[in-house]
Amino acid sequence: MTYQNKPLQIPAQKFIEAEACWNLQQLYADLTAAKQDYTCSRKQRLTPLEKTYLRGLLCNYGPVEIAVALHRKCTGIRVDLSRGLYRYIEVLTLQQPQDWKEIPSMLEIYGYKQNSSRETLHSTLINSAKTPQSPIENRTEWGLAVDTSIFYGRTTELANLRQWILQENSRLVAILGMGGIGKTALASKLTNLIKHQFECLIWIDLSHAPLLADTLVNLIECLSDQPLSDLYKLRLITQDNFFFQAAISQLEFSLDSLIASTNAIEPTIIAEAIQRLIHCLQKRRCLIILDGWEAVFCTGQLTGNYRKGYEVYGEFLKQVGELQHQSCLLLTSCEKPKEIAALESQNQSVRSLKLGSLGQAAVEILKNKGLSEEGEYSELIEAYSGNPLALKIVTTTINDMFGGSIANFLRNGLFLGDYSDTLSRQFHRLSGLEIQLLHCMAKEVKPVGCENLYSNIQQDRGLELLKALESLLRRSLIETVQAESETLFVLQPAIEKYLMSVVRLPKL
Ligand SMILES: Nc1ncnc2c1ncn2[C@@H]1O[C@H](COP(=O)(O)OP(=O)(O)O)[C@@H](O)[C@H]1O
Ligand SMILES: [Mg+2]
Repeated sequence: MTYQNKPLQIPAQKFIEAEACWNLQQLYADLTAAKQDYTCSRKQRLTPLEKTYLRGLLCNYGPVEIAVALHRKCTGIRVDLSRGLYRYIEVLTLQQPQDWKEIPSMLEIYGYKQNSSRETLHSTLINSAKTPQSPIENRTEWGLAVDTSIFYGRTTELANLRQWILQENSRLVAILGMGGIGKTALASKLTNLIKHQFECLIWIDLSHAPLLADTLVNLIECLSDQPLSDLYKLRLITQDNFFFQAAISQLEFSLDSLIASTNAIEPTIIAEAIQRLIHCLQKRRCLIILDGWEAVFCTGQLTGNYRKGYEVYGEFLKQVGELQHQSCLLLTSCEKPKEIAALESQNQSVRSLKLGSLGQAAVEILKNKGLSEEGEYSELIEAYSGNPLALKIVTTTINDMFGGSIANFLRNGLFLGDYSDTLSRQFHRLSGLEIQLLHCMAKEVKPVGCENLYSNIQQDRGLELLKALESLLRRSLIETVQAESETLFVLQPAIEKYLMSVVRLPKL
């Protein structure tokens, strides 16, 4: 028996009433992208028939009514839907539709319904000030985001982030995890999936540690309707900083003290600019991504302390998390900002996601690099704790030096290669006490508890040790294991290897 429907002319205007309530053009575009992902072919487009089915479903018609309207067999339509449109909707929403009746509400949640009656706390507050929607392309600055055409797994993480941002209207979300684990890639993938639910989008790379004044100028220029002329005061700060930096290259001043004095000139100017930005975030639904937040923290101290002159970043974060607006600030960082740690416990609008191993999806990285010993995949992924950057680096070594044999490579013990550079950048940030603690853990074969660590260092420094352990956790450099009566701490194999082979024990 075949369910193939005979080819037929689709009345282009069938179920066109869906247009009144739904952003069809956007849905066609996003479902086309989902179809391309699902079929692994960039050439695929939604067919006129698929568009017609979609409009029918959005008008709350089921396969039977659609079949009648199109003079087709219902069984054929059911098969078409479950092989095609339902699967694309699943890729788009990361949820499997159980029934055709669920589809309109699933798509409504993602903001495809126009004039949606779904009122949120924020939108009630803001609707009066709302201007007509401008196409996101007019207010998009994300040239620096990475290409995610090759991206595997992370479906649960993407679903959680989408739930927080689109359904629960979280104002401040952090993606945390150690270097190379895929924070930037995930933020970029997520942005691609949800950008159409926002009026403005801006991606800022913080890795070169711009002053907050600089970041605010960038944000306000992109998001504000006001003429830019009154940003001149902020511009002066950033220009002053430029001249200071130029002067420093000639003279031997301390950069930190100059930056600190620059920001100290007019704290009220910064405060006003933060207020102005919050106003933009209230007026429009904006998505701001700040990538690499750890760059504004200082090194050589416990985590969470801002570099001199960068303390205002903490204030900025606090206000974005605490004040009411309809936008979302998404940041990526190796280290959890203490403002987020404080706010997320009291406030559903502030969330953080700790990114761990890529898990089974990392197999695709190995396959993509042409490694064929499938039986060895799991051991390799585990050895590098599912860190995609580490795996990408070592697969090149395996191909170049071990003829593609994972087993031969693993026989030589853990090899870090260029992944050491990433670890070195993270270790450079640690305090002496943190390095001591890591050394103690690296010497132990099993996970280790606080008491054991205290006795190995100095018993009378309990409070400091506790703070240092918390700092290591917030930097994603240690992990906890729950034992019967206490919490134990453990290191990833690559960190242990790096500690034993590279890092010297500091004198305290
Ligand atoms: N889910 C993924 N699928 C495929 N490649 C990934 C994935 N996540 C990360 N990568 C790759 O791993 C490398 C490190 O990722 P990145 O996002 O830069 O890490 P981080 O920002 O945490 O330091 C990049 O080359 C990136 O393309
Ligand atoms: Mg990154």
